[in-house]
Amino acid sequence: MKKEMIVVLDFGGQYNQLIARRVRECSVYCEVHPYTISLDEIRNMNPKGIIFTGGPNSVYEETSPHYQKEILELGIPVLGICYGSQLLAYMLGGQVKTAPVSEYGHTEVKLSETSVLFRDVEPSTVVWMSHTDYIAAVPEGFRVTGHTPVCPVAAMECPEKKLYATQFHPEVMHTREGQKMLRNFVYEVCGCLGDWKMGSFVEETIKQIREKVGSGRVLCALSGGVDSSVAAVLLSKAVGKQLTCVFVDHGLLRKNEGDEVEAVFGPKGAYELNFIRVNAQQRYYEKLKGAVEPEEKRKIIGEEFIRIFEEEARKLGTVDFLVQGTIYPDVIESGLGKSAVIKSHHNVGGLPDVVDFKEIIEPLRMLFKDEVRRAGLELGIPESLVYRQPFPGPGLGVRIVGEVTEEKVRIVQDADAIYREEIAKAGLDKGLGQYFAGLTNMRSVGVMGDFRTYDYAVALRAVNTSDFMTAECAQIPYEVLFKVTNRIINEVKGVNRVFFDLTSKPPGTIEFE
Ligand code: XMP
Repeated sequence: MKKEMIVVLDFGGQYNQLIARRVRECSVYCEVHPYTISLDEIRNMNPKGIIFTGGPNSVYEETSPHYQKEILELGIPVLGICYGSQLLAYMLGGQVKTAPVSEYGHTEVKLSETSVLFRDVEPSTVVWMSHTDYIAAVPEGFRVTGHTPVCPVAAMECPEKKLYATQFHPEVMHTREGQKMLRNFVYEVCGCLGDWKMGSFVEETIKQIREKVGSGRVLCALSGGVDSSVAAVLLSKAVGKQLTCVFVDHGLLRKNEGDEVEAVFGPKGAYELNFIRVNAQQRYYEKLKGAVEPEEKRKIIGEEFIRIFEEEARKLGTVDFLVQGTIYPDVIESGLGKSAVIKSHHNVGGLPDVVDFKEIIEPLRMLFKDEVRRAGLELGIPESLVYRQPFPGPGLGVRIVGEVTEEKVRIVQDADAIYREEIAKAGLDKGLGQYFAGLTNMRSVGVMGDFRTYDYAVALRAVNTSDFMTAECAQIPYEVLFKVTNRIINEVKGVNRVFFDLTSKPPGTIEFE
């Protein structure tokens, strides 16, 4: 496994993870590394190809990220994208200039039919541009292989040295034939054969875990979410009963979810592992009494989780390994340390401080989310679990605005179950990024039968998103919304109004708190 590898050298652009994902979609393993990585480290990885990413800088600025020129003399193919293409030109003596206006968005480009990078690509195709600087003169030995009306060098290459560059972004879906171009780069230019397959990843990982763990004991915090579930199943396949999974039911899960998790992983489920369910619902409701501020609630929920986990771990005695469901975007983001703290949870690293153990096992740390899902299917995990919507660690605690009470949890669980049921019935569930019901902190006057009501308002949310960093409100047909509203008002005691949230992210976040 991992015989073939493409290295993405990150110069600070926003699509860097996407490049790696696209390369992996070509069945070629790919890693993102910051541009500060040394040449020796790159050499040691023995990559089949290197991709320079885009970035917000201008090559002539003193503080701009650069790389030593020797990287272009290793004989390893290089593809420069956007800033990466300008850097390539600059490093080799070409000329980069700043245009009076930026070129941004969908752009028609004329491409050379003889370039191997554009094999089977239409000679005139639509690409995604996002730049102000441009290559005004290509370095010696290069030829121009693409241009637009305002960009004289939309692509250039020097096949003898295996150096290629595009001013546009082949990795984004707006570049109509971008995937074909990346495929041409990894297969035709770099000579990859495509050995990154999920089946072999699963097999190989199980083998490695077995070797590492030996006869040791392994502990895993299982939330029922995709990442921890796939990690737990991998571990159970590798070491069986040496694994103990602790599942904390904090009473803030979706309706029936605790039982569903238990049905899959508990004694009646399909896996050979030790499963401990901690029913901590009342303990949480007690702790959350009076807490209204979102960060305070998150801290209470997070801390209580750690306390419970600690208690369970202590009961088990010595634990050798702790499993974490870290995935590759977490690794990249923490490595570059770029993300700002919007909500405290996003930056929580895990549990290692509180449990005595020898080592952490992170079997998914090199996988993107869609790959985690494929690994899950490969492992035979039910589709309903593998394609579960994202659900926040603090659960309904951040979908109930203001103080959390058992009564409010019941209301939001019931309303959410109806909403999900109707969305699925209407066949909309697969097409939506995330959708759920939340509970506003608002009570208002209504009338039901001949009686005055003074009840809560439920807010329905549905968003489409590709990365969960930004999201737009999804359009749900009116008849579905009417039906959901009717059912919630009639079936859920304590609700007399239903709202639909039209806010995108930004300025909103996906969750309410
Ligand atoms: P926001 O609300 O920040 O959410 O727009 C973005 C995505 O992250 C999920 N989310 C969480 N996931 N622990 C998690 O594991 C959390 O505390 C948490 N809060 C939000 C949210 O559901 C959405 O998919």
